[in-house]
Amino acid sequence: MSLTSTIIPIIVSALVAAMSSFTSMVPARIEAKEDDVLLNLSVVSDTHLDEKFSPLAWFLGIGLNDMSRAKTPVDAVLVTGDLTNYGDEGSIDEFFDTMEKHWDGKAIIAMGNHDIGHVEDKEAEEARQYFVEKYNAYQGTNIEKSYYSTEIDGYKFIVLTDQSDDSWDHPDLFRDQLDFLDAELASSGSDDKPVFVISHWPLAGTHGEEIAWDDGDMGEPYTTQVQQILEKYENVFFISGHIHIGLNGNFTSEKYGVSYYDRINGVNYLNLPSYGLFSRFGTVLGGKGYQIEVYDDEVVIRARNFVTHKWFGNYETVVELD
Ligand SMILES: [Fe+2]
Repeated sequence: MSLTSTIIPIIVSALVAAMSSFTSMVPARIEAKEDDVLLNLSVVSDTHLDEKFSPLAWFLGIGLNDMSRAKTPVDAVLVTGDLTNYGDEGSIDEFFDTMEKHWDGKAIIAMGNHDIGHVEDKEAEEARQYFVEKYNAYQGTNIEKSYYSTEIDGYKFIVLTDQSDDSWDHPDLFRDQLDFLDAELASSGSDDKPVFVISHWPLAGTHGEEIAWDDGDMGEPYTTQVQQILEKYENVFFISGHIHIGLNGNFTSEKYGVSYYDRINGVNYLNLPSYGLFSRFGTVLGGKGYQIEVYDDEVVIRARNFVTHKWFGNYETVVELD
C-alpha cells in the first residue's frame, strides 16, 4: 500500500468528520435523553497514561470530573484497556490514583496490550496480578483474575483479558476464559436486558479494523471462538478499543468501511476512540468516548467529548432491544 493511498483517506475522512462534528457540538453537563433511563454509563478507552508524561493523567482527570458532575448520575465508568503506555508500576499507580481522585463510583476496567504485552518492568502474569491488586484496592472488590465479571443494578459486565505470557499486540484467550464467558452470558438473567462484554481488542471483521489498523484485531482462533459464544445470546454489547479510530459516520463507513458501531448476526459491536492519544478515520483529537443509556426497550449510544463537555449530535446510535 502506497503512502498516498494510506494517508489521503485518513486526512479526508478526518476533515469531513471534524467539520460535521463541529457543527453539532453543544456544551452541556451529562444528562440522559429521557428521565426513565435505567442505566447510565460513561465509556472511554486507550488513556495511555505514562508517569513520565503527567499531562495525560491531568487530561483523564478532567473527563472523570465531567462524569462526576453529571446531571443524570453516572452509574459506572468503563475503561476498555491501554490504561498506560508500558504497564510499568509507576504508570499503573498513576492511572489508579487518577481514578480514585476524580471518580469514587463503580468502575469497570480492562487491561490492554500496552498493560500486558508491552510491559517492561515485570512478567505478563505479574502485571496482571498487580492490576488485580490495584483494582480490588480501588473498588473494594475481590476479583482474582484480570478477566472477571461484575453486576451493576442488575446488569452484567464481563471483562476479557490477554492470558499470554509472551504476547505483544495480540491476546491469547484460553479455554478457561472462553468457558467463563459462555457461563457468564448464560447466567446473565433476562434475555431482554443488555449484557456488556468488554475486550480491549475488537473481533476480526468488525469496525473495518483491517482498514483502520491492519491486523489490529483479536486474531484467530479467538475471534471465531468468541463470536460463536456471543451469537448464542441476545442483546449482547461487545465494547472494544485498541484500533484508535475516531468518531465516524456515514461518510467514513461508506467510503472506507470503518465504523464505530456494527451489528453482526444480532451482536452489537462498539469501538472506542483513543481518549489519551490521537485517533484516525474520523475525529482526531482525544478526550472522546461514549455515553451509553439503557432504557426499557432500547440502548442509546451518544458520542461525547468529556474534556470539552460537548455532545456530538451527529454520532448517536439507537439499538432496539430484542
Ligand atoms: Fe491503544
